[in-house]
Amino acid sequence: MTRIAPSLLSCDFAEMGAAIRKITAAGADVAHLDVMDGLFVPNISFGIPVIAALRKHTEIPFDVHLMIERPERYIDRFVAAGADWVTIHYEATEDPTAALEAIRAAGKIAGLSIKPATPIEAILPILPHCDMILVMTVEPGFGGQSLIPECLDKVSLLKKEIAARGLDIFIEVDGGINEKTAALARKAGADVLVAGSSVFGAADMKAAIDALRGEGI
Ligand code: DX5
Ligand code: ZN
Repeated sequence: MTRIAPSLLSCDFAEMGAAIRKITAAGADVAHLDVMDGLFVPNISFGIPVIAALRKHTEIPFDVHLMIERPERYIDRFVAAGADWVTIHYEATEDPTAALEAIRAAGKIAGLSIKPATPIEAILPILPHCDMILVMTVEPGFGGQSLIPECLDKVSLLKKEIAARGLDIFIEVDGGINEKTAALARKAGADVLVAGSSVFGAADMKAAIDALRGEGI
């Protein structure tokens, strides 16, 4: 079944503990935490101490999306703060393989993300070092943007490649996911859907999460 990862980027940052308890109660499978450094992306969100503080408020896994330059500098600290999945950007480091293996060595899920302009071909050689691929369907940096449909072609291509090579990798899609685009992303082969504004903007959060999963309410 498709797993849903609400992004806390769309919550009220003054009420983050309550927000993470709310998504947990609404049936979220994992919590997506967007870390931005103002360099890799033109925005700054939150970091290590905030994640450590949130860890006490839920038992669902933490899916930490690092939109930071040279993420290898901080992997151990995000793991210590409570990250279960650690995703780095292919474009943010000179040695993605080493960063991915450092995440695995810490016993965590190693995720690799690509921006809309990065082709799947760029990451094919390093797939064996990945547990998860995060395909961005908007330019990283901000919530509330519209999904770029062409990015879903990359999801289909990746799904085929993973199957053909018999790899054990799941695919996450992030950006512009709502009930309508979720159906397209699931069809393309997404295993996990990140959703910020569509979950936090919903009157009934549980119904919104179920709808993203493709379940009736
Ligand atoms: C954007 C972040 C996303 C963002 C998604 O850089 O990676 O996780 O929170 O927000 P929506 O679902 O509103 O596009
Ligand atoms: Zn994200």
